[in-house]
Amino acid sequence: MKKRIISFAIFCACVSIMACNGVNSNAKGNKVDDSTKSTNQLINTAGNDVPAEYKEGANLVTSNDCLTCHKINEKLVGPAFVTIANKYETNEGNINNLYQSIKMGSSGIYGTQVMTPHPNLTPQDGTAMAKYILSLRTKK
Ligand code: HEC
Repeated sequence: MKKRIISFAIFCACVSIMACNGVNSNAKGNKVDDSTKSTNQLINTAGNDVPAEYKEGANLVTSNDCLTCHKINEKLVGPAFVTIANKYETNEGNINNLYQSIKMGSSGIYGTQVMTPHPNLTPQDGTAMAKYILSLRTKK
């Protein structure tokens, strides 16, 4: 009888330790989500957090070479995507101009660094990327 009580106690201890671990790692997981949920991470999981209409563009940006030179919020080799978005309003003309810049390459607008051309870019993919980038505008 005593043995049973002891093993029950051990069982309880185990369960509560396991439960605690579970809660901890959940809490940790949530904390990571909330505190470091920068847009720079969002682009790496573009499929998850980007509004549906911009998902295609976001996925194209993620799967091309764009992120070797661009970040969302900070300047890298190229300007932050937010800087670009705040420079141009979203309209057909600007979407097309950005598509052309990405396709043909660019330099001199933001500084002396050069964006390499992407000659095989289709209008459909290029405008999808441009629309996604422009959607990051923070300026009202
Ligand atoms: C080799 C580095 C590099 C790569 C790779 C790169 N960019 Fe750029 N990007 C730049 C630089 C540098 C500029 C600024 C050019 C300038 O000052 O005119 C720029 C500018 C831009 C602009 C603004 C153009 C304008 O007319 O204002 C857009 C949009 C852009 N990049 C999107 C992209 C996308 C989308 C990709 C991936 C397909 C990409 N870039 C890949 C370096 C890069």
